[in-house]
Amino acid sequence: MDKAQIDSTKTTWQRYQEWLYYHSELGFYVDISRMRFDDQFVAAIEPRFEQVFAQMQELEAGAIANPDEQRMVGHYWLRAPELAPSGELRTDIIDTLSQIETFSAQIHSGAIKPPNHAQFSQIISVGIGGSALGPQFVSQALASANPRLGISFIDNTDPDGIDLVLAQLGSDRFAQTLVIITSKSGSTPEAANGMKEVKFAYEQAGLDFSKYAVAVTGRGSSLEKLAQAEGWLAVFPMRDWVGGRTSELSAVGLLPAALQGIDIRAMLIGAKIMDSATRVPSLRQNPAALLTMAWYFSGNGRGEKDMVILPYKDRLMLFSRYLQQLVMESLGKERDLAGNVVHQGIAVYGNKGSTDQHAYVQQLREGVPNFFATFIEVLQDTQTPTLHPELEPGIFAGDYLSGLWQGTRQALYDNGRDSITVTLPKVTGQEIGALIALYERAVGFYGFLVNVNAYHQPGVEAGKKAATQVLNLQSKLIQVIAMGQTLRLDQLAEQVGEANQETVYHILRHLHANQRVKLEGNLAKPSSLLVSLASL
Ligand code: PA5
Repeated sequence: MDKAQIDSTKTTWQRYQEWLYYHSELGFYVDISRMRFDDQFVAAIEPRFEQVFAQMQELEAGAIANPDEQRMVGHYWLRAPELAPSGELRTDIIDTLSQIETFSAQIHSGAIKPPNHAQFSQIISVGIGGSALGPQFVSQALASANPRLGISFIDNTDPDGIDLVLAQLGSDRFAQTLVIITSKSGSTPEAANGMKEVKFAYEQAGLDFSKYAVAVTGRGSSLEKLAQAEGWLAVFPMRDWVGGRTSELSAVGLLPAALQGIDIRAMLIGAKIMDSATRVPSLRQNPAALLTMAWYFSGNGRGEKDMVILPYKDRLMLFSRYLQQLVMESLGKERDLAGNVVHQGIAVYGNKGSTDQHAYVQQLREGVPNFFATFIEVLQDTQTPTLHPELEPGIFAGDYLSGLWQGTRQALYDNGRDSITVTLPKVTGQEIGALIALYERAVGFYGFLVNVNAYHQPGVEAGKKAATQVLNLQSKLIQVIAMGQTLRLDQLAEQVGEANQETVYHILRHLHANQRVKLEGNLAKPSSLLVSLASL
């Protein structure tokens, strides 16, 4: 589709009013008027949404919308169980929610408590990707300064990062800290390693890990089996019809949120209201479809422009990271559903305004025009207005934030750079649920529009498989080195049957840096290095 010029006879104010979407119950606005599409573009793309809406309807009715994994896609049912395609699923969703609420209430009341203490006061949450980004975003957005339980996250297999989280918590507080291990597959190495590291730390502190541990995982997973065998406090289900990156409103997100004292019912209500709004089969009346159309326009349906997310609200800073996964893992696909190589996707990055004004906004305004911005504006500045000073006559800190948003939007526009603005009335559970639902739907629509499976992640699997091969090779190398001989790197590689000496070298260099093998010789000539056991 060729890009034509915007109708210059209309003022930006006219265009704003023509394209502004407002949801009265949620108080949400979506403004795509500063994307320079024209009537011709809309006329060409609008009919394509008929099929997109029909496909989404089928998805919600229980079609196998994730064909590669032969799975239904059911995150919309989590907030409207009555729409689930079977009574069994409905009961399952309702029961899980009730299990979460009961468990949280028991933790808060001390009915479930750690040995030797009256109550749990903290959480360590272990998980990665879709099992971490939603809970992290929601915690930052909604947890109070004094939450019912505080939360720390371990979302990597970096031992130094794990040390830092555990040290910040302090081993004396482990005895009052609940550990949630979240992994749908139950076999993701980062989550499994995090669990083993925390378990080890608890054992070092003389604590029985099983009395502190909770699992959120898929039916029949190795994690579920472990939790059951060891008698953990509880196991909450993840269903195969909920993908990791759309799992925030399943047990993955709701359990830690409820434990922190966040109003999870409000999140579900917000999402449900937004879901109804994004079911309307009309491009102009559907906020998610408007976003999808704007994304498609900007990147010519091929992701040619990056999506820069700028929430003008500190509490929404992690929305950029959350959205980065939701968009890029869903849409970043090599092949379309017909098997054609398409290399689809939209790159997403961001942080927050106005902080980024003093970082990369310089390039956005004047540098390479390879992006469109999305501003997230929040109308309510603070719940404590009386605690803030008047900085200048009639001007408060939040007025600056608002002014800087408008200024940046205009400055970008004046230099030919497009933007979308999503406006929320305030940041409470309802708005966050609605925001999540809005973007889940827009990503789903876009997937249908460009004909990719938005619900699988084969690229993630490829990296995992390659990592396993590296670790298997490392085990073989260690076995040979443990025999006590000193070998040249190329001889060692030959002995373990590995043709790729570079991989061998990277493994050995890492082991050497951690005093687990000794490398001697010219470090700039890797293949001649002598390898032996490190003398500890
Ligand atoms: O969105 C997804 O499906 C992924 O990002 C997963 O959440 C991530 O790979 C973690 O997987 P798991 O929950 O199985 O440990």
